[in-house]
Amino acid sequence: MTQSTTPPIIPPKKLFIKTYGCQMNVYDSERMAESLGSVGYVPTDTVEDADMVMINTCHIREKASEKLFSDLGRLRPAKEANPNLKIAVAGCVAQAEGAEIMRRMPLVDLVVGPQSYHRLPEMEAKVQRGERAIETEFPAEDKFDHLPERKSLRGPTAFLTVQEGCDKFCAFCVVPYTRGAEVSRPPERLLAEARNLAARGVRELTLLGQNVNAYSANGYGLARLLREMAALPGVDRLRYMTSHPNDMEDDLIAAHGDLPQLMPYLHLPVQSGSDRILKAMNRKHTAAEYLAVLDRVRAARPDTLITSDFIVGFPGETDADFADTLALVRKVGYGMAYSFKYSARPGTPAAEKPDVETHVADARLQELQALLTSQQRAAQDAMVGREIAVLYEKQGRQAGQMVGKSQHLHAVHVTDATGKVGELVRAIVTESKTNSLAARRLA
Ligand code: 5AD
Ligand code: SF4
Repeated sequence: MTQSTTPPIIPPKKLFIKTYGCQMNVYDSERMAESLGSVGYVPTDTVEDADMVMINTCHIREKASEKLFSDLGRLRPAKEANPNLKIAVAGCVAQAEGAEIMRRMPLVDLVVGPQSYHRLPEMEAKVQRGERAIETEFPAEDKFDHLPERKSLRGPTAFLTVQEGCDKFCAFCVVPYTRGAEVSRPPERLLAEARNLAARGVRELTLLGQNVNAYSANGYGLARLLREMAALPGVDRLRYMTSHPNDMEDDLIAAHGDLPQLMPYLHLPVQSGSDRILKAMNRKHTAAEYLAVLDRVRAARPDTLITSDFIVGFPGETDADFADTLALVRKVGYGMAYSFKYSARPGTPAAEKPDVETHVADARLQELQALLTSQQRAAQDAMVGREIAVLYEKQGRQAGQMVGKSQHLHAVHVTDATGKVGELVRAIVTESKTNSLAARRLA
């Protein structure tokens, strides 16, 4: 009698990931899912049927890290109901407070910092043996070289991390501590990854980095990397974020003018419009220098939509400093911007200084957000009647409708009964709605 050679069927384990913070975390979550996929995990959308719950955390502001502890508290009943459930914490809070998390939260099985994601399979094996696993080193090897190839593509757009870490040390920011020093991935690998993504239907790539325009490897800067990616067949659109004003080199600005694939969109955080505060923030540029960079970008590509980040209530910020911020915003005319109340982060230089009173910071934040919202509205309304290009990302909720993004990253609903995901079409904007544009496809 011969024995059956059919392997036993092992049901897949299920992984639920909750992601906080920036696009780099979104990208990392996908790569972590793939890494755990290599040891038998498939994604699930519910905590109830998960074998592992992973929280990918953000440490940029205090509220962001508080969320982790409330999430973990809420997971307690799930862990009690299913003692085999594994709970994992990844991301920048894991990096900064890993040991503390392990001490305070016995229900956590695994803590992994952003530079150690390639260690997840071996960490998972350890956890399955009933041990706890923690990795928060900055290993010498590149995690991306050790992560499996990308599989879980959703739609025609993809993020691609080209650079990690930051050497700028803005006085308020934890990134140089949690993500470490600037490291750029080799251009050859990035071009190979871009080629591979394009071959699988991706038409728009967003190059990511904490300080992406400081990209530098093997003789490539960001401009050269963008130019070579633009030349790859199938790569129709390129974007990059986040940039520092001091790294907007001439060749990068020139690329905005002469690379049609590079979208007319630039996220260039300024944080404040006051020279005194910029100095205290260690930004190493003035408001006028920032405005001069934008002038050069707009000279190269006049329809560039500018977006930014702002912090109000930085220690020592006076009414006059805040008025300078409002004045700068009025000068620029932003298409969109994020604004935050300053949040003291332990270990950063600014954390030593006295905070602006809460009610003052709150009032400033409200005033700034009202101005930014009106500018965002105006930029969106100005699109009505204009011809745009839309890359379809999914079907709309209504029949005969497709949803995608314009060159300026506006969400667009297009009336189009025959449209397909991944198509890049021309359309006329017919209406500006609360958070999107409506458009009609051109023949
Ligand atoms: N407090 C408030 N906002 C912060 N940011 C970074 N650190 C802090 C902090 N300590 C904001 C900056 C940055 C964005 C990603 O988050 O505006 O550009
Ligand atoms: Fe943080 Fe950006 Fe400043 Fe780097 S440049 S320290 S990431 S705010």
